[in-house]
Amino acid sequence: FTKQNVEEVLAVASRMKELVAKRGGCDVLNHRIMANVFLEPSTRTASSFNAAFCRLGGKVITIQEGTSSTKKGETLQDTMRCVECYSDVLVLRHPETGAAKLAAKYVKKPLINAGDGAGEHPSQALLDMFTIFNELGHLDDIVVTMVGDLKYGRTVHSLAHLLSFYNVRLNYVAPASLQMPESVVQDMESRGIKQHKSEQLTDAILAETDVLYVTRIQQERFASQEEYLKYKGVYVIDKATVMKGKESMRVMHPLPRVGEIMEDVDELPQAAFFREMENGMYTRMAIIALVTGTAN
Ligand code: CP
Repeated sequence: FTKQNVEEVLAVASRMKELVAKRGGCDVLNHRIMANVFLEPSTRTASSFNAAFCRLGGKVITIQEGTSSTKKGETLQDTMRCVECYSDVLVLRHPETGAAKLAAKYVKKPLINAGDGAGEHPSQALLDMFTIFNELGHLDDIVVTMVGDLKYGRTVHSLAHLLSFYNVRLNYVAPASLQMPESVVQDMESRGIKQHKSEQLTDAILAETDVLYVTRIQQERFASQEEYLKYKGVYVIDKATVMKGKESMRVMHPLPRVGEIMEDVDELPQAAFFREMENGMYTRMAIIALVTGTAN
């Protein structure tokens, strides 16, 4: 991805938002089929990709781990080769890092990574960029504070990459053992991005933050329940926390939340996470339109 790619997606996503508001959708993908292959649980990503393709006039087939031949031991490459026969666009969520890259070697049709293990979640990062732009009106000169499980939380890896095209400062608030991977930190450093690590979400960090990007402790990535319980509940954002930040600060979360943001935050103007969730559909409509050459 380049900065130009990001801005193209954001511009098309804005048009998609208007399209949905005015007419609900269009027929540019009439008679086209998308295969939504979700081999790891999902609510938002699966349903927003599905809705996005339908709103562009196409139809969707869904493959899930529990009811597909992956249960019988079929390899990822064979599953993807199979669904490619029946569809025009492929979407893949998988529990293993690098799965989308591997699958892409075996198929010729557009393949969209919908999250690969603790690796990347690029469509989430694009919808997050769309949300930040819509909430703040700009992407430059902002301080983004990422909180929670930065090691296994794939959304922050992809978001840091896209933010690095802009003049941003990144705070990483996480327990030492769940800090941002060194590969991401070094990549940001090579791009001249100022970064700061902390184990505490201090008042000083909150005061300078424009976007408080909260993440879930990724239970499914820990070796044991005992290990997960060490970190569960380590950061909890409530109304009092938000009130310590700027009035213009926005609280984001890729969701699902499992206790990291209290419900007393939900009604505050700072709570952008449900708008972020809605933006997922517009952004995924844009991604699909761009990869199918139907964006214009
Ligand atoms: N944000 C996100 O990826 O949510 P789901 O796991 O519900 O798709």
